Amino acid sequence: MTKLTPPGIVCVCVAALQACDGEDPSNTQGGETRSADQVAVTSEAIRYRKDVAPVTSVQSALPGVWIPPYEDCRDPKPGETGQGPGGKVCTNVMISACTEPGKYYPDYASCEVVRTQRPFWAAPPASVPREDDPRLGDPAFMTELQWMTQQLEASACTCCHDSQVLDGRVGQWDIHRGPIWLDTLSDTGLALFVGLADSSALGAYPAEQNHGFDRERTGVPTTDTERMQRFLRAEMQRRGISEEQARAVPPFGGPIYTNLSMPSVECAGQGVDSSGRVQLAAAKARYLYVMQEGTKNPGVAPNMDLPEGTLWRIDVLASAAPLAGELAYGSTPEGSFQVQPAAERAPAMERGKRYKLYALTDVGLPSINCNFTFGESLGSATPSMAAAAAGSGGAPWGYPGELGAGGAAGSPAGSCDAAGEFGKSCKDGQGSSDCPCAPASYCAVMPGQTEGYCTATGCKEDPSVCPSGWSCFDLSAFSPELKPICLKP
Ligand code: HEC
Repeated sequence: MTKLTPPGIVCVCVAALQACDGEDPSNTQGGETRSADQVAVTSEAIRYRKDVAPVTSVQSALPGVWIPPYEDCRDPKPGETGQGPGGKVCTNVMISACTEPGKYYPDYASCEVVRTQRPFWAAPPASVPREDDPRLGDPAFMTELQWMTQQLEASACTCCHDSQVLDGRVGQWDIHRGPIWLDTLSDTGLALFVGLADSSALGAYPAEQNHGFDRERTGVPTTDTERMQRFLRAEMQRRGISEEQARAVPPFGGPIYTNLSMPSVECAGQGVDSSGRVQLAAAKARYLYVMQEGTKNPGVAPNMDLPEGTLWRIDVLASAAPLAGELAYGSTPEGSFQVQPAAERAPAMERGKRYKLYALTDVGLPSINCNFTFGESLGSATPSMAAAAAGSGGAPWGYPGELGAGGAAGSPAGSCDAAGEFGKSCKDGQGSSDCPCAPASYCAVMPGQTEGYCTATGCKEDPSVCPSGWSCFDLSAFSPELKPICLKP
């Protein structure tokens, strides 16, 4: 799995003139001379990440916005002790995080916040545990199962995989569905757990920042990788799953995974213009990056959201509206704060040099991924690009197909049968022409793909719009402008 790139201060000396080592660049504004090839970074005051209080509750965030990880330090529960400063228990509030071993994650972090970090819906167990399972009489097995359950209890996985948490709804596997909950986990899920199916796109903390829990070698966080793998491999064997079969399971992460390898296009109407204004055109941004050309696409926190080669990054607080239109390169407009560089101004941009502009409407929803030459005209946005920027939706972390917005349409009379044409393939941007039959008049397309399928929206209010076997995928829980749609089984 990808290792954490420390978000240390990257001082990019574009010319000998620019303040670098040892000098505080914020003191050099104004008096500094720059070559004609450089454009000075704004001299406005900059808000850095350390200057803002993170959003720590769903109530203070805008609806449907992904709440970024933060550290929660609390007093230990009566009878427990904490290993953190002042005897507190300090826990990262993030899907891939864990609290101290032996403790219960929901006691020390907000599962409501964690639930914003991935679209959530209840999914049935892969199979129902049996009361007469012979393994119940096998103390060695039961000891290991109990140990594994404890390991999971310390993890944020509990927020969606533990029926004792929040509303009690779980996504397939449930660590409190007895007697042997492991049966609720699917075979592909087991391949993820054991670490044979790739789930690196979903992010991981280094063990030393996660109370000793590692998620890089096993998909499930553990303080003892060998013991966890031994137990899970025995389960694979019992189910008759070979190592080869487990390795053949495609990488997890849906669009989060595919976004990582999405190529950048040439900018049209977007980029940083020659006067140092970032042009977003129709795109909205909660995360905005200016990078060296060729830099990897950013992925999820905590270890993939700041690729090496990121020159400048600003984030918008989950409580504030996304960035839109234009803004000065190097500035932090209201609601935003600078993440990179962590404590100094953005490096000056050089005329004639190639850069990559990357923006996310929200985590998992890239809205700009393009290259431009600084100092040259950015051209103008073509209507199709503007539409793509506005509509390139998708949900992060979803394991089945995640869907972007296509066109909705009315239903012309004629060739439509009463059931509609659910599942019929359709093309992005074709709007009404491909999905003419109500109620399946919505073309749902995976981000980055050109083809999707016809389906219906509005299933949250009226679940009966979906054909039997289809589920309702509530994208609006993730981003307000996306609609709940019927998801193919
Ligand atoms: C915010 C909610 C949420 C959190 C937190 C969460 N999951 Fe899930 N997970 C789901 C939902 C919903 C499903 C069921 C639907 C699906 O398969 O996507 C699921 C399904 C799964 C599956 C089954 C996939 C399959 O193909 O059968 C695995 C494995 C899994 N999760 C692993 C994890 C692990 C490991 C963690 C903790 C590191 C975790 N999940 C944390 C929501 C969550």
